[in-house]
Amino acid sequence: MTGDVEPTRLWGGRFASGPSDAMAALSASTHFDWRLAPFDVLQTKAHASMLCRAGLLTEDELVKVHAALAEIALGIATGAIVPTPDDEDVHTAVERNLLELLGDLGGKLRAGRSRNDQVSTDFRLYTRANARAIALEIANLQEALLAQAVAHAETYSPGFTHLQHAQPVTLGHELGKHIHALQRDLERLGDWDVRAARSPMGAGALAGASLGLDPHAVAKDLGLGEPLANSIDAVGDRDWVAEFLFVGAMIGVHLSRLGEEVILMTSREFGWAALDDAWSTGSSIMPQKKNPDVAELARGKSGRLIGNLAGLLATLKGLPFGYNRDLQEDKEPVFDTVEQLLLVLPAMTGMMATLRFDKERLAQSAPEGFALATDIAEWLVRNGVPFRDAHEIAGACVREAESQNIELWELTDAQLLSISEYLTADVQSVLTLPGSVASRNSFGGTAPDRVREQLAPMSEEIKNTRQNWSQ
Ligand code: ARG
Repeated sequence: MTGDVEPTRLWGGRFASGPSDAMAALSASTHFDWRLAPFDVLQTKAHASMLCRAGLLTEDELVKVHAALAEIALGIATGAIVPTPDDEDVHTAVERNLLELLGDLGGKLRAGRSRNDQVSTDFRLYTRANARAIALEIANLQEALLAQAVAHAETYSPGFTHLQHAQPVTLGHELGKHIHALQRDLERLGDWDVRAARSPMGAGALAGASLGLDPHAVAKDLGLGEPLANSIDAVGDRDWVAEFLFVGAMIGVHLSRLGEEVILMTSREFGWAALDDAWSTGSSIMPQKKNPDVAELARGKSGRLIGNLAGLLATLKGLPFGYNRDLQEDKEPVFDTVEQLLLVLPAMTGMMATLRFDKERLAQSAPEGFALATDIAEWLVRNGVPFRDAHEIAGACVREAESQNIELWELTDAQLLSISEYLTADVQSVLTLPGSVASRNSFGGTAPDRVREQLAPMSEEIKNTRQNWSQ
């Protein structure tokens, strides 16, 4: 505690006593909103410049304020400045430091702003900065997936629907789909950023300010777009927070699906891939174990990311008019989503980059389970048989092979002919893995050439992401 020194409070004039301990404990937010401190300093700096332009600070005072803010920013960055238990929130803590350095001059900066426009502005700056970090981590994961997909553009793999062998595919095709899903997440983040980059400054507590201020200039100083057009909306709007949490949850869901595939692929039953030692863990009791914890944590954390979104939406539901203190609950879900994604994404990248696939095992498994039955049907169609009949004939082949406990390509020419007069020996040409996969050469299809086409623009997209989201 600060001993007998009166705590700095941003309110209090009309109160005979300070808050009770339980009230103060409930109200306090510095233990989490201190993350906003560097952004509160930036925002205070821009606000001071604007006060000076409005004639409310002299040039000389502005220089002093900016110097003090630079000192505070350094203190925050090095950890020399931390909040005291008496600081109600990050804004109080920054103002206390200004008062300590500047005396009465520090008290001039509250003119024309309120914590209501301030907190939303700081929070937008924080979230935008972290969205950049998330986007760059997504690009790293895409790069790892791309390298594997390119290396396995011609590796045959079982393709599933309903987790049952459906048709053979190429592994590069399967891995490539995750790159596309993540690309849509990046697009969503880009769309979100446009709406997040609006400035609430100038809204004051709710109604705007009477001091002849210039919200456009502050917005520009902070790298934000236009100020929000309605000051009551400006302090109450958290759509952009919910949207960010949705994008975060969607990224989490995508990672959970990739994670689930890795868990299956590295199981003994599948045996398609092996985890690198650096990206797996052992068991405290079973010496042989090698567990896919990265993938499992990705799958598990997606639940919590969804929870962050659902929780915020519940907080927002039914909130009346402008700012309500409920809105203080908007920050922890975002901090958590940011922190969890920045933990999971690099680990997923490391795991995917080092995963080793067993090509022989994949190729052996790919046509099993009568996965070439569609190839027989389509071969018949190319020979003029209506698909309805072709489907029946191919089904009869499956029934025959199943009853003999053999695979489709093991049926003899005579057996095939006895099933249907259309099944001449030529049908064997599509009953091979390379023949089947190469024949699916439609746009977006699984043929190795098509897969290489799908992957080709990806390195350029990754480069663009890095360019657009760094700085
Ligand atoms: N800590 C508060 C928050 O996060 C700052 C705004 C407080 N505004 C107020 N009128 N009490 O929302």
